[in-house]
Amino acid sequence: MSEQKREQWGSKVGFVLAAAGSAIGLGNIWKFPYVTGENGGAAFVLIYLISVVLLGLPIMIAELVIGRHTEKDPVGAFKAMLGGTGWVIIGYMGVLSGFFILSFYSVIGGWTLGYIVNSITGLTSSLKDVGTAKVAFNEFTHDTVMVVLYHFLFIAACVFIVIRGIKNGIEKWSKVLMPLLFIIIIVLIVRGLSMDGAIDGVAFFLKPDFSKINTDSVLSALGQSFFSLSLGMGAIITYGSYLSREDKILHSAIYIVILDTVIAIMAGLAIFPAVFAMGLNPNSGPGLIYHVIPAVFANMAYGGVFATLFFMLLFIAALTSGISLLEVVVAYITDEKGWSRKKAVLIFGTVIFLLGVPSALSFNVMENITVFVGNNFFDFMDKLTSNFMLPIGGFFIAIALGWKYGLDKTMHELDPDTRIISLKELWAFTIKFVSPILVLLVFIFNFIRQIGD
Ligand code: TRP
Repeated sequence: MSEQKREQWGSKVGFVLAAAGSAIGLGNIWKFPYVTGENGGAAFVLIYLISVVLLGLPIMIAELVIGRHTEKDPVGAFKAMLGGTGWVIIGYMGVLSGFFILSFYSVIGGWTLGYIVNSITGLTSSLKDVGTAKVAFNEFTHDTVMVVLYHFLFIAACVFIVIRGIKNGIEKWSKVLMPLLFIIIIVLIVRGLSMDGAIDGVAFFLKPDFSKINTDSVLSALGQSFFSLSLGMGAIITYGSYLSREDKILHSAIYIVILDTVIAIMAGLAIFPAVFAMGLNPNSGPGLIYHVIPAVFANMAYGGVFATLFFMLLFIAALTSGISLLEVVVAYITDEKGWSRKKAVLIFGTVIFLLGVPSALSFNVMENITVFVGNNFFDFMDKLTSNFMLPIGGFFIAIALGWKYGLDKTMHELDPDTRIISLKELWAFTIKFVSPILVLLVFIFNFIRQIGD
């Protein structure tokens, strides 16, 4: 295995777009608006942005450094850096997170497939107000057979691409389709802003009201920044392992983080003005965009065409993220256990599909079954990974690189830099001190509050 030359990205732009493809997905367009809505709006957005800068960017750089330095999957990377110590657990936890996240991610990815069908058949064009759109969404998610089938199709699509390997699969798709998504979101923003009452939505999204924030929302903001940037579980370590020596890590990381953040903010601007203009409660949970977007398009010229296009692009964005989740699991099995790519993908694709079924059912037959303190299976998996496994993973990635392995051995991985304030040194300081302390503080405060309750 290891004698074989490791596959690399075909081009620099290809890598940035593929990594951006991993980052940009349902996290930006589906999840960011709904958790923002649940956590009171602009103040949450602000904390999210702070977390992106002080945690997201430095940890993104750290993961890329680890990946290129070791040229390994997450488990192999920690083995190579820190030998047979307990640190390998971070790698294993990452692989497990990939497993867990893809299982429920694929359910929402499946919804986008269902909505492509609903747009083509003209169903979404009849959903002229959020009330009917909501009813239609409920009917849609209560069709158990269909949601499980769509979930299956989403995993199958990931499997199909990941079997073909990184260059022909992942890279090719990302390059073509990401820019198109950008354009259609702009259409949505323009349309949303032109509605009566849209301004309330803009205020909700951009005018902070800190009374709506508590330690729980801070933790959600932090979790969302890890989730949206694909951090904390080694997805970016894995992508970094396919980087060539010529690629510039600092610059690439900055591009990826900016692209991801811009898309999330644009999604918020596309959703909230319409939410308020159409009288929907922003605190509507995972169904939020499925309640509002069909209604926006239904009231627009060529709305059916736009709706079809929108859900197709959302599906593609979800797919480029889904494959990065699957790739982590597959990279681990092929690198460490020597399985063939095909066998690894088929077997683990199946297991992840099965694990996702209870998440698909959490919107219908298992809706009221709580798995853990008031959360149904879907919410539990989501919170467990986003708010706990990823930040904890990120914390230990920072500690492992900054303190245990030592930055001196890896600083040469970063772009030469001649600025007055060295970006490299700024990063070194942040990854050693700022990022880990922040994660720790958020956990400590949350813990104290839970005890206080
Ligand atoms: N970042 C993706 C999104 O926003 C989801 C995702 C892909 C992810 N790979 C990941 C999240 C790895 C966490 C870790 O939709």
